[in-house]
Amino acid sequence: ALISMRQLLDHAAEHGYGVPAFNVNNLEQMRAIMEAADETDSPVIVQASAGARKYAGAPFLRHLILAAIEEFPHIPVVMHQDHGTSPAVCQRSIQLGFSSVMMDGSLGTDGKTPTDYAYNVDVTRRTVDMAHACGVSVEGELGCLGSLETGMAGEEDGVGAEGKLDHDQLLTDPEEAADFVKATHVDALAIAIGTSHGAYKFTQPPTGDTLSIQRIKEIHARIPETHLVMHGSSSVPQEWLEVINQFGGAIPETYGVPVEEIVEGIKHGVRKVNIDTDLRLAATGAVRRFLAENPAEFDPRKFLKVSTAAMKDVAKARYEAFGTAGQA
Ligand code: G3H
Ligand code: 13P
Ligand code: ZN
Repeated sequence: ALISMRQLLDHAAEHGYGVPAFNVNNLEQMRAIMEAADETDSPVIVQASAGARKYAGAPFLRHLILAAIEEFPHIPVVMHQDHGTSPAVCQRSIQLGFSSVMMDGSLGTDGKTPTDYAYNVDVTRRTVDMAHACGVSVEGELGCLGSLETGMAGEEDGVGAEGKLDHDQLLTDPEEAADFVKATHVDALAIAIGTSHGAYKFTQPPTGDTLSIQRIKEIHARIPETHLVMHGSSSVPQEWLEVINQFGGAIPETYGVPVEEIVEGIKHGVRKVNIDTDLRLAATGAVRRFLAENPAEFDPRKFLKVSTAAMKDVAKARYEAFGTAGQA
């Protein structure tokens, strides 16, 4: 059944678990996520980015999610729009049937330029007014994702801020967060704690200086009722990097957000954990290995099947680690 994000995150807060929010672009990702949820009895958040709408087309994405709900009617599913760049973009998603939208007012309508606080409050509050009138939940974002080492947003293909960010934009301020939630009435708040989108988050395993779980604790202590969201939360599994590189890939040394750090965040108010890159890495590793080992094979279903299985394993591991398993 389709449910709103607020319904799911209220339940998650009450029972002390977190929910991975996986990005979807195609059938194989959707099927991997739903089968993993089915096998672990987990509720689901699937989210579509602007890039996903461009890749698959809005009607295909919408019907992909509706098909998942039809095939797995016993699983609660939140259909969420990831990183909306304006109230108009969010409005369009509400019309398409999404049960939750993110208004990311931390960046301008280009999705790149950091904005000021007043702008962020204004676009987020307007989106909340519109969405709540339709029974749709809203996630806002305060602070900009980016590396505490370099001040850069990190993403290689243009997701996130452009140019160098100030240190105070890279860590969400607890006082400002309290003010923002009060002014906008968002259902969930994405915060900046040193993570960034994509595979290149940290050049060495993160420490308390580069990944601030401490900041989550401070924000949660200030606004304990607010559901917190971690973006850029892929763990960048070293075993998948090895498979990719063993079978013709060339990905340099890089590290993600360790699962145990996310679990620590979940103990302190994190309820939604955004993951895209980990499924991409697993999918690519599985396809590279399959094609290298089966050079005469040319039926795409053969390599898409192993790719789906690899994504499903990652999704199951996250449902289990975050305490989502058994909560559907
Ligand atoms: O927001 C970041 C997600 O990983 C979506 O990425 O824009 O390439 O679909 P995308
Ligand atoms: P990753 O790139 O770490 O998977 O983050 C995805 C994300 O935050 C989508 O909004
Ligand atoms: Zn994100």
